[in-house]
This record gives sequence, structure tokens and C-alpha cells, in this order.
Amino acid sequence: MAEIKVRKIKAIRGEFIAPADKSISQRAIMVSSLAKGKTRIDNFLKCDDSLRAIDAFRKMGVKIKLIQQKGKSLIFTEGRGVNGLRKPYSNLYIGNSGTTMRIICGILAGQKFDSVLTGDASLSRRPMKRIFDPLRMMGADLRGKKINQQEFPPIVIKGRSLQAIKYQTPVNSAQVKSSILFAGLFAKGRTCILEKLKTRDHTERMLRLFGADISIKKLAVAVSADKILKSPGSLYIPGDISSCAFFIMAALLLKGSHLLIKNVGINPTRTGLLKILKRMGADIVVKRNKRALNAFEPYADILVRSSVLKATVLDPEDVAYCIDELPIICVGACFAKGTTKIIGAAELRVKETDRIYSMVTNLKKMGAKIKSAGNDLIIQGTGKLKAAKVKSFGDHRTAMCLAVAGLLTEGQTTVENTDCVNKSFPDFERILENITQLT
Ligand code: S3P
Repeated sequence: MAEIKVRKIKAIRGEFIAPADKSISQRAIMVSSLAKGKTRIDNFLKCDDSLRAIDAFRKMGVKIKLIQQKGKSLIFTEGRGVNGLRKPYSNLYIGNSGTTMRIICGILAGQKFDSVLTGDASLSRRPMKRIFDPLRMMGADLRGKKINQQEFPPIVIKGRSLQAIKYQTPVNSAQVKSSILFAGLFAKGRTCILEKLKTRDHTERMLRLFGADISIKKLAVAVSADKILKSPGSLYIPGDISSCAFFIMAALLLKGSHLLIKNVGINPTRTGLLKILKRMGADIVVKRNKRALNAFEPYADILVRSSVLKATVLDPEDVAYCIDELPIICVGACFAKGTTKIIGAAELRVKETDRIYSMVTNLKKMGAKIKSAGNDLIIQGTGKLKAAKVKSFGDHRTAMCLAVAGLLTEGQTTVENTDCVNKSFPDFERILENITQLT
């Protein structure tokens, strides 16, 4: 099993082009597969999760070509149209990808064929009832492994005709919203989803780009099967702010750092981290240009300079807008002046691992004053951590956070079991090496 070994570095300096967005890459495969015509996808993120999505649609008859060009990945899909998918010739193995697993259920529920979805050990522990409930209301026939009141993969889906529903989502989850929206493409009537908070809207933007009949009014999204999906020809995937977050935090915390990250996606449903960091006193400048802002997914360059951070309180709304960045905020909070509180982070319990447990356990081992109280986190900034042997628990974001923590501590920190980094950011170590200033 791979390990990442890190020591204190002097600073982060330089620039790099942000790794492509994972959420958008997966949706690009799904929507282009369901559309009529050929689609060229520039700057696709080649990582374990998006490769699982490609594999699933190939097994349903979609032609998908993946090419490496000048260090970037380029995709060509030949969509089969909304009703063109074929019965997969084997079970669909989704690996570790919660996004692909949950969204694809919405697509498969409305097919004329049956299918079986399986995942790795971690995905097989992630709750699926949150999508089963609304999909069943639409007439879907899905079955998971029942444990207590929950249901987990593997999932057996019997394709059925679906009816539209009006649904208020009980959890703030873009995966749940997206699963219902995709099911809405196969349902009779207009499917409407009401959210309590606006979660990431990549599915809505992608469907709109492909000409779907979709309307968005504040927290309500509605879709119907009335229009065919048609390829726009090509699309560009901007950088993933969640992956950039590790280097943004490292640059903020290491004195004398200066980092420019190019082409970072700044979709407003994803930039909660920037808002929170600014509140903490971060010196971050978003350099916008008109063309990039007008893209279907806006992007910009982000300049980060080292800063003295102060503690803050994250309420449940903040939590929803930076759910994937909470672990790295925990690392930042260890170096911020004062006590940071993260209130109502229950969703962290059901990620690739229980991230409240993984961050508290590991950061405590590194000497942090961090504790959990129910689903809240309380972190007292002490300005220092100590080197330790820490565990990823098979979770990519936990692994990368701990590597960043190790860059700030004397002695060698070893992060164990880091193959999981390939789930979202295979280039993590290479980029880190390029922007590391040792002396
Ligand atoms: C994602 C949604 C979020 C996020 C995950 C990716 C998506 O999950 O944590 O990394 O691509 O829709 P939830 O929908 O469970 O909040």
C-alpha cells in the first residue's frame, strides 16, 4: 500500500493549472452518453471515480474514447440518446464513487432493462435510502442490502416506467438532487425538486447545456422528458476547487508563500471555502476574465499569499457550502488564532469514511486540540502540530489533508494507505513537489 512521507517545507511558491473538476467530469460522461451526437470533452479529470463512470456507460453501449494530449485528458463520446442505453453485459462495478453510484440509479431506474450495481467496501457502507425514497415515489424498483433502517450497495434495479414527483429534499445533497433530476428525464410529467439550500448545481448546468427542458427558480429545479438532449459539440471542464483547497491552505499557512492557481472553477455553489477563508483573514484574490466567467461553468485564476488566520464559527449553512473542504479547514483551524467551531457536520459521517472521526483521531495524534461534540467540531488553534504516523482510513481527502498538515511540522509525517488519492487527484504529489520551496 502506498504512503506519503512529508516534512516541514519552507513555503509554497509558483503556479499550476488546477486539476479538472471531478463532479463535472462525471456528469459530462453521463449527459453526453444520453445525448444525441458526438461530444468532445476537453480537460477531463482522469481519476478512479470518473473512470468508473466511463466504464459503466461503455458497458451500456456508449462509445467513449479517452486520449492523453499534452498531459491533459480528452474525451470523445458518441451519445446514444435518452432512450438508447443497452442492458449492461455485466454487473456495473462503481468502485468508490458515491456520485456515480447515486446518480446512475436515477438513470437506470427508468430503463427497459434490469441492472446490478456494486461498489468497493467503503461504497458498500454508504447510505442509499436517501435516493431510494424519492425514486420509489416515482415508481422505481430498487433494492439494496438492508441493515437496520438503512440500505446499502449492492443495488438491484428493475427498470420501470416512472412518474414525475414534487419532492422536498430532507438532506442537503447534490447527489440526491441529481439522481432525481436524471430520473425526471425518463418520467411522465414534470419532476420538481425543492432544496433547503442550493447545493452544487453542476447537473442543472450540464443538462441545460445539452438542451434539456429544465427550469430553475431559486431553490426549485424542475425537469421533464419533453426535449431531446443534443450535444453542444464540445465543452471544457474547469479546475476543481476542492482539490485546489489543499494547496490554498498550505500556501496560506506557510510564511513567504505565493501561489497562483489557474482555471479554477468558481461556480458560486462551490466557493463557500473562499468566503470562509476570507472571514478568517486569508489573502486570496480571484482574478476574473470575461470569457471564463461566461462559460457554462465559470472559472478564474486564484492568487494566494500567506496570511495570519483567525478562528471562525461555521454554521450549518456554511457547512453545506464547503462540505468537501471541512477536513482541510480543520487543519487550518489548528494554526488559526482562537477557537474554530464547525456546527452541524453530520454529513461528514457518511463520506468515504467518517471524516469527523478520521480528522479528530489523526490530528489529535499530531498534537492538535481538536474534539467532536455530537456532529460538531471544536478546534483550538495552537499554531503547531507534531509529526506522526497517521492513517487515511482509505479516504482521499483525509489523506491529502494530513499530507498538508505534515508540511507544517518538524520531523517526518507518514500518511499510510494513500492509494485512495487516485480517486480524485492522481497528480497531487507531482504538483506538490513542483510548488514546494525547501530553502
Ligand atoms: C458531490 C456532492 C457532494 C460531495 C461529493 C460530490 C457531487 O456529496 O460531497 O464529493 O458530485 O454531486 P453529497 O451530495 O452527498 O452532499
